[in-house]
Amino acid sequence: MRIITLAGSPRIPSRSAALLNQSQHWLQQQGAEVIAYTLHDFNAQDLLYANFDSPDIKLFAAQLARADGLLIATPVYKASFSGALKTLLDLLPERALEHKVVLPLATGGSIGHMLAVDYALKPVLAALKAQEVLHGVFADDSQIQRDGEQFTLSDRVASRLEEALESFYLALGRHHPTLRIPSPLLTQQSA
Ligand SMILES: Cc1cc2nc3c(=O)[nH]c(=O)nc-3n(C[C@H](O)[C@H](O)[C@H](O)COP(=O)(O)O)c2cc1C
Repeated sequence: MRIITLAGSPRIPSRSAALLNQSQHWLQQQGAEVIAYTLHDFNAQDLLYANFDSPDIKLFAAQLARADGLLIATPVYKASFSGALKTLLDLLPERALEHKVVLPLATGGSIGHMLAVDYALKPVLAALKAQEVLHGVFADDSQIQRDGEQFTLSDRVASRLEEALESFYLALGRHHPTLRIPSPLLTQQSA
């Protein structure tokens, strides 16, 4: 099983990327191959000036085409997802997320904007023809403690994230019946 993770914050270190880091660890423990991307893997000028010929972006699109699922993380900026992430999504082919299961993750300063993923990011994922976009995980900044470059998720966020990852993994199994899903997860599904 191959999963792409995309950290959509322009900033480093990043709280939303911390959600992804934890997820990567969990997915690797299930035996998934995780290919991790951040916005910093792309040339800022390519993004800003919409360079559709950028080799980095073409490679990313090719990796996506070969992947089974996408985990995408973003901070809430001005009641939406980050503009820098949008510059990358704009450069992907129209059907870039066809046959993909997508789990969105977001962090924000206030729970007042916890629906930003639903009303702003999900329509874009649908426009890229994502097969299934799961209910995402939102954490506000108070739930992710920063200590220098390190972040620690609150127990509540960590457990919501794990539940979402289990759903993601099971959805991948539904859409790709040939994928091997670890039996404890299948037992939970049938319980
Ligand atoms: C330019 C900017 C705009 C922001 N706008 C919002 C907002 O509209 N609503 C909100 O809840 N948080 C907002 N925030 C707070 C961030 O969403 C929050 O700190 C988030 O965890 C940052 O994630 P990151 O560390 O991955 O970049 C904003 C932060 C910045 C820098």
